Amino acid sequence: MQADVSASAGSVPKNQSLVGQTGVHYEIFVRSFADSNGDGIGDLNGVTNNLDYLKELGVSAIWLMPISPSPTYHKYDVTDYYGIDREYGTMDDFRRLVREAHQRGIAVIIDLVIHHTSIQHHWFREAAKGPGNPYRQFYHWLTPEEIKARKLNTRDITADSGERNPWHTPPGATYREKYYGMFWSGMPDLNFDHRPVREEIFKIVRYWLNDVGVDGFRLDAARHLYREFDEPKNHQFWEEFGQVVEAAKPGAYTVGEVWTRPEHIAPYFRGLKANFNFDLRLAIEEIVRREDDTEDLVEFVDYVHGAFANVNPAFIDGLILSNHDQNRIGSLLKGNQNQLRVAANLLFTLPGLPYLYYGEEIGMLGLKPDESIREPFLWDIRARDGQRTRWRRGRYSTSQTVRPLAEQRHDPNSLYSHYKRLIQFRNSHPVLNDNLSRIGQTGIRQRGTISFVRQSANGQRVLVVHNLTKKPISVVVSPGEAWCQRVAFATAEGTTFNAGQLLLTPYSCAVIE
Ligand code: NOJ
Repeated sequence: MQADVSASAGSVPKNQSLVGQTGVHYEIFVRSFADSNGDGIGDLNGVTNNLDYLKELGVSAIWLMPISPSPTYHKYDVTDYYGIDREYGTMDDFRRLVREAHQRGIAVIIDLVIHHTSIQHHWFREAAKGPGNPYRQFYHWLTPEEIKARKLNTRDITADSGERNPWHTPPGATYREKYYGMFWSGMPDLNFDHRPVREEIFKIVRYWLNDVGVDGFRLDAARHLYREFDEPKNHQFWEEFGQVVEAAKPGAYTVGEVWTRPEHIAPYFRGLKANFNFDLRLAIEEIVRREDDTEDLVEFVDYVHGAFANVNPAFIDGLILSNHDQNRIGSLLKGNQNQLRVAANLLFTLPGLPYLYYGEEIGMLGLKPDESIREPFLWDIRARDGQRTRWRRGRYSTSQTVRPLAEQRHDPNSLYSHYKRLIQFRNSHPVLNDNLSRIGQTGIRQRGTISFVRQSANGQRVLVVHNLTKKPISVVVSPGEAWCQRVAFATAEGTTFNAGQLLLTPYSCAVIE
């Protein structure tokens, strides 16, 4: 059984994971979160300095986007899997972060980017020296003859790489060969058919789990280690990976970025504990914007969870409203504060593990390109904000467009307070906080509402009803929900429940037990 976060405060042995089957996780782009040394770039000490803030909000784990040395601003192309990028601090800073987080009962998950390395990683530099190099097979190569035979001198477009040609010529190449890099030329794909690559990756995994003491990994581009036609090999790799993780640190957490239809996500649960549900994110956005359940949300979740459960009954569905690759929910809903509240109501009541992307709790904005969805967190108005990062000036999120945290923190009517109340209720309730509890349909059919039952393995259950609209809605609880007795939680005052009739104020939700 995994450790329960709330019970685990204090120092955590390195061989024990702090992630349980409860809680809410928070994704952090370190560069944009908080600057502790005034150089304008967010850093690890900036994260450590704000662990109390995260604790106050109620998060149980943080997921840090890549922190290892890398030539790019986002660091998704690693040059040293055992280090910390100097822009963010030192390994000592990171060890302190882990220690301080654990003392507060907060787990630390790091992004593990193993699909590719940086073109500047020494494995690639060696490999590029020529066919005889011991690192040659760490990557995928085409010789001049193969290029000719496959007529690849112009394009080899695959479904994986979309419109781009994934075959690149190495810088300074002495003869006409090409290497495979699905994302772009700076990210050469590793060759997972080559045993030594797997062994190197497993060494890295053990280092972070056992030596440094992290609680788990977010697995970048998990679907693309093999090309689409070879997907079963992908599943097999993650199964092996899951076994290595579990042996290194029983209970350690893994969440995969498998960006595809739910049916195709399911096999990844053979090796990974959780996967993000990107289609659900899209459905939530549509429903909230239209103020109507146009997507048959409960039926959809029920179907998807059935597919996941067939592979692994202990699956964890990773729920998101946005992330560092997606337009921010704040902008998608055009800053509409009522709709942002409804989105949060759904996020924290649906079955699964909710993720917050930093800044969502204050309604930060941002539309692509990527840099604009990864803008500096707004701690306070600029003149008073000692922590605001300056690596980039906010284009969408400024103190003119978004109320900074300092202004929302003690305002009971703010979006931040709404998030905090929802998270705290969720954390306190055995069924809502059970990320393995499952969804059940209700007999309630009413336009403008979404209702479902959540049930834990021990039979405990709650009824959740959402009003998606600007009008008050009265709902009659059906005979199937005759067990419902009282409102355990409501996001708005004025919610009443009498003789099976539930009155929901606009844009609110209620949890009945
Ligand atoms: C997916 C990540 O989420 C994205 O941000 C990154 O650029 C690519 N993988 C490549 O690592």
